[in-house]
Amino acid sequence: MSFGDSKAIITNQDGINENLADIVNKHLTTEFKKPISTHTQQAFDQVNELVQGFNGPIILDSCCGVGQSTRIIAKQNPDALVIGVDKSDNRITRNVDDQWQVENYHLVRADLNDFYRLVVQENWPVEKHYILYPNPWPKAKHVKRRWHGSAVFPYIIQVGKTIELRSNWRLYLEEFQAAMALANIDSQLNELPAGEPLTPFEAKYLASEQQCWALTAKIS
Ligand SMILES: C[S@@+](CC[C@H](N)C(=O)[O-])C[C@H]1O[C@@H](n2cnc3c(N)ncnc32)[C@H](O)[C@@H]1O
Repeated sequence: MSFGDSKAIITNQDGINENLADIVNKHLTTEFKKPISTHTQQAFDQVNELVQGFNGPIILDSCCGVGQSTRIIAKQNPDALVIGVDKSDNRITRNVDDQWQVENYHLVRADLNDFYRLVVQENWPVEKHYILYPNPWPKAKHVKRRWHGSAVFPYIIQVGKTIELRSNWRLYLEEFQAAMALANIDSQLNELPAGEPLTPFEAKYLASEQQCWALTAKIS
């Protein structure tokens, strides 16, 4: 498949997953006990020192891939420290020589299922939390692999004063919105306004003339 030829999401769901409310309510009312992996604990400890020693706003760019969005957001927010997190070593360590080379960002290789819990535990003062183009897992049976269906969802919604998700699959964001509503958080789902793409996936979808969507919420 070439750039500009990205296929739209195909799913066997015709609306919000029928099990979503049960799954989310269960996660909101039970403790997530899975132990934190040693690797993510170590990666967190390193970046935690930076964050705790920083005197300014923290922005978290979850699932940052090659970190393009992390750098762009850092450039747009010179007073902030922007932390990009991705579990893929291949993506996070790729040496991308783009035009957004700045100093005020840091990329971390870690599993967010563990990392989010540490962010909440250590009370990071996150101003804004981005989750840009999360893996969609479009088959109904994979709903628990979507962030709103995961056991870490109750932690995700404690990170940041505001949260923004983007996707080319509206239903993913409708589900995330429904999950947040179960936790009494209001959110707004809009077409992504025209502008420079923040991430490689966004660039790919826009070049394929796919509509992208943004879900935003004020959390605290
Ligand atoms: C579809 S890509 C989007 C990357 C980037 N945000 C973009 O728009 O170009 C989704 C990213 O989420 C990352 N990811 C998926 N599950 C993760 C997890 N549990 N912890 C950290 N990163 C994860 C993947 O490695 C991948 O880079």
